[in-house]
Amino acid sequence: MHNSVKSIGSASLAVKLTAVSKRYSDVTAIDNLNLEVGKGEIIGLLGPNGSGKSTLIKMILGLVKPDSGTISVLDIPLKQNAIGVKKRVGYVPEDSTAYEFLTGLEFLDFAGDVFQMGLDEKKKRIEEFLKALSLEGREGDMISSYSEGMKKKILIISALMHKPELLLLDEPLNTLDPKSARIVKDLLHQLALQNVTTIISTHVLEIAQAVCNRIAIMYEGKLLALGTMDELRQQAKMPNSALEDIFLKLTGTEDIQPIVEALSK
Ligand SMILES: Nc1ncnc2c1ncn2[C@@H]1O[C@H](COP(=O)(O)OP(=O)(O)OP(=O)(O)O)[C@@H](O)[C@H]1O
Ligand SMILES: [Mg+2]
Repeated sequence: MHNSVKSIGSASLAVKLTAVSKRYSDVTAIDNLNLEVGKGEIIGLLGPNGSGKSTLIKMILGLVKPDSGTISVLDIPLKQNAIGVKKRVGYVPEDSTAYEFLTGLEFLDFAGDVFQMGLDEKKKRIEEFLKALSLEGREGDMISSYSEGMKKKILIISALMHKPELLLLDEPLNTLDPKSARIVKDLLHQLALQNVTTIISTHVLEIAQAVCNRIAIMYEGKLLALGTMDELRQQAKMPNSALEDIFLKLTGTEDIQPIVEALSK
């Protein structure tokens, strides 16, 4: 497990956001947010629906521009060299609409070309991933004919195959079967040892607890808490609690019972 990055200088940061805000008409999606992610860290983004996780990920990717504040990715300010940064980043979007009119193999081939991979390496990496994620034999079928989990796997392969230094994964495991999810989780750990950084959003608290070095809890566009499990327990003053209880306390939703009772009347 990694320690918190408080003591690491800014030169070794994978992502740095300073006073970043983003509004959509009257909704504040991201509210004056500061975040530093060290290289080789796996950060879990948790938070209720609409708390800003996907917006944050899209901003780090350069897909959504902040209204104010600065973002630097892999030591490069996003404003300066967005294309150069994008080549070093892998992104799995939250919705798995890939190019439905292509086959899985055609899409991966196209993704490899976008990242300017060599032919041999591209072929080798695609084969390895198709096998590892049990898609072998289906790569020639149209993506429109795939199940949700299969579509997600294709997007995961397209995000990982070019060996990016930063992975931005927006709920990547939610439709994966247990074996494939385990392979991806273990792979993220292996990649972290090679200094690859991962920011992963999830609603599955067990995934956050098992996979991440530090966990960020978002609420209404702000970071409510950020730290290791122990640091979150301290912050919530719940020394022996599970992440679910800490999450519910920090996001102010611990009074579940009266809600369920009202709904069941
Ligand atoms: N393109 C957009 N136009 C208008 N409002 C948006 C847009 N994208 C996001 N928002 C708003 O910004 C807020 C944050 O949305 P976001 O998708 O980042 O949340 P999230 O934490 O990823 O939620 P979920 O858990 O449901 O995926 C929400 O109130 C949402 O309605
Ligand atoms: Mg989202």
